[in-house]
Amino acid sequence: MARSSTDQENAPLLSDHGSEEDYSPTARSTFGERLNSVAQEPLTPLTKILLVLGLVLLLTSSVFIGLFSGAQHRLNGGGGHTHTETITITTTEKVPASSVPVSLTTTTTIVTTTAPPLPVPTTVPEEKPCLEAHCIVLSASILSSLDTTQDPCENFYDFTNGGWLKAHPLPADKSSFGNFEALAQENRQIIKEILESTSSISPVDDQILTKLRDFYGSCLDEDKLNDIGAAPLLHLAKTVQSLYNGTNPSISNDEPQDKANVKGLTAAVAFLHSRGIPALFSFDIEGDVGVDPNHMVLWFNQPDLGLPSKEYFEEEAMRQIYADTLERLLISLIEEEDLQQQRQRKQPPALINNDDAAVWPPWPWPPWGGDDEGKPINRTLEAHDLAEGVVAFERKLAQASLDLDVLQQDPFATYNPVPVSNITDTVTQIHFPTYFSTFTPRNYPDRIIVTYPQYAVSLADILDETPSKVIEAYLVTRAALLLSPFLGMDTDAWQAQRSLLEALTGIKKGAVGDRGEYCIGRTEDALGFAAGRYFVNQTFGGDSREKGTKVITDIVDSFKASLSHIDWMDKESAEAAAQKADAIRVKVGFPISPNTLDPRSILNYYSLVKTNQEDFFGNILSSSISDTYKKWQQLGKPRDLNSWEMFPSTVNAYFNPPSNEIVFPAGILRPPFFSQDWPAYLSYGSFGHVAAHELTHAFDSAGRLYNQEGKLEKWWTNFTSEGFKTKQDCIVKQYSAYSIDDGKGGKVHVNGNLCASSCLPALSMILTDRFVRTSGENIGDTGLIQAFRAWKAQYNASEANGNEYLLPGLNYTREQLFFISFARIWAREMKPAAAVQRIRTDPHSPNRFRVDGTVSNMPEFASAFKCSKHAKLNPPNEDRCIFWS
Ligand SMILES: *[C@@H]1O[C@H](CO)[C@@H](O)[C@H](O)[C@H]1NC(C)=O
Ligand SMILES: *[C@@H]1O[C@H](CO)[C@@H](O)[C@H](O)[C@H]1NC(C)=O
Ligand SMILES: *[C@@H]1O[C@H](CO)[C@@H](O)[C@H](O)[C@H]1NC(C)=O
Ligand SMILES: *[C@@H]1O[C@H](CO)[C@@H](O)[C@H](O)[C@H]1NC(C)=O
Ligand SMILES: *[C@@H]1O[C@H](CO)[C@@H](O)[C@H](O)[C@H]1NC(C)=O
Ligand SMILES: *[C@@H]1O[C@H](CO)[C@@H](O)[C@H](O)[C@H]1NC(C)=O
Ligand SMILES: *[C@@H]1O[C@H](CO)[C@@H](O)[C@H](O)[C@H]1NC(C)=O
Repeated sequence: MARSSTDQENAPLLSDHGSEEDYSPTARSTFGERLNSVAQEPLTPLTKILLVLGLVLLLTSSVFIGLFSGAQHRLNGGGGHTHTETITITTTEKVPASSVPVSLTTTTTIVTTTAPPLPVPTTVPEEKPCLEAHCIVLSASILSSLDTTQDPCENFYDFTNGGWLKAHPLPADKSSFGNFEALAQENRQIIKEILESTSSISPVDDQILTKLRDFYGSCLDEDKLNDIGAAPLLHLAKTVQSLYNGTNPSISNDEPQDKANVKGLTAAVAFLHSRGIPALFSFDIEGDVGVDPNHMVLWFNQPDLGLPSKEYFEEEAMRQIYADTLERLLISLIEEEDLQQQRQRKQPPALINNDDAAVWPPWPWPPWGGDDEGKPINRTLEAHDLAEGVVAFERKLAQASLDLDVLQQDPFATYNPVPVSNITDTVTQIHFPTYFSTFTPRNYPDRIIVTYPQYAVSLADILDETPSKVIEAYLVTRAALLLSPFLGMDTDAWQAQRSLLEALTGIKKGAVGDRGEYCIGRTEDALGFAAGRYFVNQTFGGDSREKGTKVITDIVDSFKASLSHIDWMDKESAEAAAQKADAIRVKVGFPISPNTLDPRSILNYYSLVKTNQEDFFGNILSSSISDTYKKWQQLGKPRDLNSWEMFPSTVNAYFNPPSNEIVFPAGILRPPFFSQDWPAYLSYGSFGHVAAHELTHAFDSAGRLYNQEGKLEKWWTNFTSEGFKTKQDCIVKQYSAYSIDDGKGGKVHVNGNLCASSCLPALSMILTDRFVRTSGENIGDTGLIQAFRAWKAQYNASEANGNEYLLPGLNYTREQLFFISFARIWAREMKPAAAVQRIRTDPHSPNRFRVDGTVSNMPEFASAFKCSKHAKLNPPNEDRCIFWS
């Protein structure tokens, strides 16, 4: 199945093959075959004659169809949405004689357009659909996405996406795949082509490209990675271990964490954190939302854990799987150590399996031992015990961490500024001056914002009661779990982390995706602003930025215009809301810090990232070190207003409350979200929804607590707050009633109320964002009405400019297509395990509910589709959650 060309707007079909076209999802799979057969069989004279005859026939029929179209059109109620002429031309041009699926679909289309052949001439001039190649491709992609056997008023998600879902069964190597993922895949393909070419641009660009290509190449060379084995991971583990152990030989391995080992623990944790590996706690640099959101300060947080959320630690089966994974990681390190020692000693192979190999070597636990000499320790058993100990330890951390459901609605509760001494006096197991000096030698913080003060207290207690060797094993397995994906796939360590991933997401055992695509993904993660420069140059030309920005500003305007009519908002709050909407900064396309358009700026930004074609693992670490360094460099400084939290090629968007900005990377300003060439009703339905979603975040449960400067402030009156609360309860109730299948015969309910792990005042994105605070995602989706109004408001001018043109073969009104365009972006297949994980960690509801829930709150939808009063998606108004009346 051709996954990579999910968006036919973008598929190179037309440019490559002239009139070749695939209208139906099934056609896509046979496209290659058809091409082959055309290429292999030369046309005989008879075939040629037949072809010409067929063409003439089709042309003739097209003329008739054209003649009858006027009558048909009026029968449809004058909506102006049949596009007979196109169809005919499409049929004549597009149907390859050999292609059964294509001719089938096309026939259907002809039938639909010609049904009542009344030869009455039209009095009103027929509105002609666009017949240009890009319109036909776009039309085909929409048609093939639909499942018209579904009733849009009952299952709008299935109606819009049934065809797409059928044509895109979930690939074995993925736990979910939808239009976001499909576009991300396309974007990676574009970057891949740039990196795989050898083109040279300018001396500075060539230096950037070399960095990118070396990074990418180091990831691609799987043989090399397998040759290297687990050596780089062992090296890192030994460093962690010797830092932890090295400075204090006196600690006893069975005693609880000894206060005397403060230096060791501090050094080991700082080492891990500087490489982006979370352990024990985490620091972030964000604005001081209580005082000055543009002044960057230190935030103290709970860390990410080895399982995605605290619920998993309460499931015995999952704890077992996790413990097995950690045990395998530990044993793989032991084995690597053995291997290296054997190599060093240049032992003949015959000696490898001698008894020594089964005895505890200098590595791993207890490294400071020696008292066990004589009675060899069974290493398998030891690793097993340590793994269990680590899981129990992490479970305690999980239990001690912030309960996300409870506190997510309240950014005030997670804003606890304290003097730095509060943390240093609480977590005495870490010497913070030393810790900080690892990151910012010049800027010692005097104030810290703690998201959850109790966590620091619990952490100190848990550390006190945990044996030193368990903490050491925790530190080592944190690194091993996070970094083993960057080893060769033949290594035990790689396979251990992979089995955990399979259990968590439900992806098929052993089914790994395309290595090139994976490696582009890692390159993007590491050097995304560099890759973005070439991505933007390739994809974000013409009027894309202007047109994309206009959609957003139109929505801001329509939002402002609606404020005065909102029943739950009084005048005072509405005025403040309008001010906040005015103050929102809109960023579209790509950042200028680093400056995407200036190669020197990019090169300088990544100057710390050292890349070596032979050392993927080292490249990953180098880029993590650079990112961490850059993060800490912001401490104590004003916010860089031009920086971005996403790369230009990312298919996502975000609202950042402290900086009061909404940001849309070039990566999402592409079909099926947006195109500068699209008619407005499509752009406003899809990209407009993304924009309205992000804008609405500024006024959702958490966003409403930040004022126009990004400062925490209860700027709504009590009347408005209470009115909002009623609406919010309505949404929570609506979405909590939805449930998904957990794949084990049970159901998991959507959490109407959730924020992701750290609950920092950070980004609200349109898509999965496990590591940041989001809330009110479902409220965000109610913003669709603003996109609808914005589209309507610009309609007359837009139509005059020819931007509301119709597409061939789509028997739907523009209103209907607006909603179809919205729902289409949410097409996604997902494995049950992954769906459960998302419900637990991802504040966004499953896509089906994002679509059906959102439209059922909009009377405009029901009237666009003329839904009956009893239709599921046309509830009585009192049952709708209407935020923006
Ligand atoms: C177009 O759609 C309308 C209603 O959606 C339907 O009544 C009509 O039959 C359709 N026309 C054709 C030609 O399919
Ligand atoms: C840990 O410390 C002891 C005592 O200083 C030393 O003998 C041992 O080699 C150290 N272990 C590691 C792995 O560094
Ligand atoms: C270590 O213990 C495991 C499990 O009890 C056992 O299977 C293994 O044979 C033992 N290995 C050695 C070297 O004693
Ligand atoms: C730290 O701050 C928290 C919350 O402000 C307070 O409850 C706690 O007592 C303080 N601890 C210390 C050691 O100052
Ligand atoms: C941008 O694209 C053009 C055309 O493909 C190419 O000639 C040029 O070198 C590219 N520039 C950069 C900076 O990638
Ligand atoms: C608003 O509500 C808060 C708490 O519910 C109360 O303390 C305050 O007095 C109220 N303000 C007004 C103006 O009623
Ligand atoms: C658009 O034009 C129609 C008449 O052509 C008018 O009734 C409508 O009010 C106009 N809409 C807007 C938003 O200006």
